[in-house]
Amino acid sequence: MKKLLFTAALLGVSSMASAQQVNVICSVQADWCNMIATVYARTTGVKINLALKGSGEALAQLMAEKENPKTDVWFGGTGDPHLQAAELGLTLEYKSPTLMQLYPWAQEQAQQSGYKTVGIYSGPLGFGYNTELIKKKKLDIPRSWADLLKPEYKGDIQVANPASSGTAYTMIATLVQLMGEEKAFDYLKALHKNVGQYTRTGVGPIKAVARGETAVSISFIHDAPQERMAGFPVETVTPSEGTGAEIGSMSIVKGARNLAEAKKFYEWALTPQAQTFGANAKQYQLPSNKATPVDANVPDFKKIKMINYDYAKYGKSEERRRLIGRWEKEVNSLPR
Ligand code: F6P
Repeated sequence: MKKLLFTAALLGVSSMASAQQVNVICSVQADWCNMIATVYARTTGVKINLALKGSGEALAQLMAEKENPKTDVWFGGTGDPHLQAAELGLTLEYKSPTLMQLYPWAQEQAQQSGYKTVGIYSGPLGFGYNTELIKKKKLDIPRSWADLLKPEYKGDIQVANPASSGTAYTMIATLVQLMGEEKAFDYLKALHKNVGQYTRTGVGPIKAVARGETAVSISFIHDAPQERMAGFPVETVTPSEGTGAEIGSMSIVKGARNLAEAKKFYEWALTPQAQTFGANAKQYQLPSNKATPVDANVPDFKKIKMINYDYAKYGKSEERRRLIGRWEKEVNSLPR
């Protein structure tokens, strides 16, 4: 009898152990990912296995894993590829009881996807610049999209590659909405001449600005304060013509092996308490739960000229593929 009980206990423990984990693709910066993984494991006993990937790369991984998913939750990253994942049937419909506690933009993101994703944060696109380098090179501070085309910035602008980075895709979609598609592509071709490097991730360019490797970046402006706090001379502006914003999102993967735990983690990530870990990790997106305290470093949307970004349209699989394909063919292939 004793032996039986012992075996049963062992079995119980081992089956619990295999269920007590969640595989998360995390598309925010590493400090935030690591913080939530550590805190969650400490408070619940559930292990979070992290894979850090930019938004475009995360989507590519989910596509590759479609028949045999190894990921349970995709946390963070720009919303457009999350909408694309929803449309492609890669993510699971799940209506969180917490939805009503979120800002309308986060709820709309859920509705538009058939409840296959949800907004967890938002942040506006703009420019970062190195105050010392700008002075040293006698450059003006760029204040508009038009300014970035001035020959004085040649080789001194960095932006990410839209195939791997959601930030860069947000830029393309923003320009198309501001200018119309043809003019936007003329603009991107002209901008290409001034771009010194297209980086893999969206945060690459602002880190290059911080370290004085380039004078100007096209970046989400919420990624600048942490560089300033680390002592780097970085400031941001938003373009005078208007700009777009991301709705950073979270989705549960269809066919997730650890579904029950995935849902628990998802619910936790929507709580005000969990959402404070963004600012605790010095990442200053606007959190989606209305009850989450808003850190003073979070950009004030009311002071920024925002376009009415059409998330449904630019999150469509066909549209996103087409625009990125067009950029590869007509822009990235040009000599600089
Ligand atoms: O983690 C910082 C951040 O700017 C997020 O706000 C955003 O969702 C993400 O990077 C986008 O990363 P990428 O452009 O590499 O897909």
